[in-house]
Amino acid sequence: MPSCAVTRRVHFNAAHRLHNPAESDEWNRATFGPCNNPNYHGHNYELEVTVEGPIDTATGYVLDIAILKRLVDARVSEVLDHRNLNLDVAWFRDRIPSAENIAVFCWEAIAPALPAGRLQRIRLWETPRNYVEYTGG
Ligand code: NI
Repeated sequence: MPSCAVTRRVHFNAAHRLHNPAESDEWNRATFGPCNNPNYHGHNYELEVTVEGPIDTATGYVLDIAILKRLVDARVSEVLDHRNLNLDVAWFRDRIPSAENIAVFCWEAIAPALPAGRLQRIRLWETPRNYVEYTGG
């Protein structure tokens, strides 16, 4: 049975501040630079969700991409889009909302809900030049 990887790409924007409350203000400024600015800043995130699995002979799909779209919309976009990640999203109350941690959030939101295939990769673009990848574990 041939396997294939399918990717859904979505956009959201959100505000955040990189700040570790266990460290001093000086440490935070030195570590995070302008990303530590007290009044937050925003990014236009591009998220790529890749699901890998065998091609179902009945449908020719790994999974119906419309199902993947609905799942990503409900579990990621509706939770993160137009939000302040530090203040509005409970998952980040005790985690720094770096691109790395946002990628882990997306993985945990999507992986258990997939009806077919397995989540292979979360790729999150924070700027057009910077992205992070998370593959679980
Ligand atoms: Ni930032």
